[in-house]
Amino acid sequence: MDSPIKICCIGAGYVGGPTMAMIAKQCPDVEVHVVDLNQSRIDQWNSDELPIYEPGLDEVVREARGRNLTFSSRIEAAIQHANMIFIAVNTPTKSFGIGVGRAANLEFIEKCARQIAECSTGHKIVVEKSTLPVRTAEAVKRILNSSANGATFDVLSNPEFLAEGTAVQDLLYPDRVLIGGESQEAINRLAQVYGRWIPKDRILTTNLWSSELSKLAANAFLAQRVSSINAISALCEATGADVDEVAKAIGTDSRIGPKFLKSSVGFGGSCFQKDILNLVYLCENFGLHEVAQYWEQVVIMNDYQKRRFSERIVSTMFNTVSDKKIAIWGFAFKKDTNDTRESAAIHVCHNLLEERARLVIYDPRVHESKIRSDLKMAFSDVNGVLSDKHKQLIETNVTVVQDAYVAAKEAHAIAVLTEWDEFKQVDAKRVFDGMRRPAFIFDGRNIVDRSKLTQQGFEVHCIGRS
Ligand code: NAD
Ligand code: UGA
Repeated sequence: MDSPIKICCIGAGYVGGPTMAMIAKQCPDVEVHVVDLNQSRIDQWNSDELPIYEPGLDEVVREARGRNLTFSSRIEAAIQHANMIFIAVNTPTKSFGIGVGRAANLEFIEKCARQIAECSTGHKIVVEKSTLPVRTAEAVKRILNSSANGATFDVLSNPEFLAEGTAVQDLLYPDRVLIGGESQEAINRLAQVYGRWIPKDRILTTNLWSSELSKLAANAFLAQRVSSINAISALCEATGADVDEVAKAIGTDSRIGPKFLKSSVGFGGSCFQKDILNLVYLCENFGLHEVAQYWEQVVIMNDYQKRRFSERIVSTMFNTVSDKKIAIWGFAFKKDTNDTRESAAIHVCHNLLEERARLVIYDPRVHESKIRSDLKMAFSDVNGVLSDKHKQLIETNVTVVQDAYVAAKEAHAIAVLTEWDEFKQVDAKRVFDGMRRPAFIFDGRNIVDRSKLTQQGFEVHCIGRS
């Protein structure tokens, strides 16, 4: 009989935390130990205020924590005890050296592999959960095989497809779970874990390289759809077509499908841009320049969309926003998350601050300290240095408030940058009465009721509508 599965997960972030909490919830007899170098993150996982906001996550964690789910910074002990080790650490875009701005920084992955090699004995399955360039498993295997203690390893690729804001639902009912590997026995062991709550036909198995590449390809295809509809939105604005009507018309074609056709101020999030740039770098490495250029265009279009939105605000407001108050509704990269990584809001706020606008920012989940540090980062140079001039600009021109109505008070304009449900339900009269005239709304998510707001007296500007 197989020995009981004992799991360690290195990395208690947006992926490691929720994924392991779900495994622990669904498999009460499997010990799950999530470890991280960042002690304050671990402390938050052990507190009542989790480090990440995800609908339904509190309940999942509460059910399993203290039973078979542990969060700690005892990395070595957790590795030694486990027979299945997930690596879910960050793989950001390189900010230095060869491949700067494109290649994935694999420093954290390599450190994990070395640490596993150093403190393991016996046989262990090592699972790549992080998103990685194709053939990373080869390097991971070589490092693991250098283990001085005679430990042996199987390496699997098991990329994560959850989206933030819907992580719990995505983990409970995934479209598929992908497991790539060489050893059928190791694949079966991992499939056995997921098989506790996921139907067998949704657990796909492939070779290692297909699994690693499928993750990058899936994100590239999803981001490409957003850039495609955003490209069409620019044409809609020029021609009088309505992008939501066009999206509906094309999305009803069953070959195209309706999802991921919502035009916006631009996609954000920690992964789309990072993973596409990684794909572009890989293609270039293999001499596939046309393929690299093809995918890079998805990111170029996204940058254009963010810039276009900011420019539209300035040109509509009589070509100047200097000293005008603009309410920013939403700072997270999408609703139902407190994550701001690569949020379009950061870019739009940066552009408006360069035009000397006064911003009053409200987001229901993002802390003021995070908003300020993101803006400081956006104004910093390549070495991370923030000039006194920019520091002063952020201090004097940015206010963060806790209420959408307060943000809009005395404002010349509102920019909706995240599609939080509460922005759809605001009392239009109350907002309008508090604002200056003309009262502009720039809807970067196409969520407000345009005709109702226009009737109220607002001048409403949406994406993809002239
Ligand atoms: P994250 O930054 O939220 O978390 C990563 C954690 O790993 C951090 O807490 C960090 O302290 C920890 N860490 C780094 N090196 C470590 C080490 N040597 N030992 C112990 N801990 C270490 O990142 P994330 O958003 O969870 O993403 C992790 C990976 O999953 C990335 O490759 C990402 O592309 C991929 N991914 C992310 C999402 C998402 O929704 N965020 C979805 C699918 C896949
Ligand atoms: C995305 C993928 O959807 C996940 O499958 C993947 O696991 C994850 O990346 C990852 O690898 O990190 P996520 O970035 O969390 O998930 O969220 P999405 O729902 O994909 O949204 C990404 C961005 O695109 C958001 O800014 C969102 O507002 C924008 N978007 C999405 C649009 O502008 N229009 C759409 O129609 C859909």
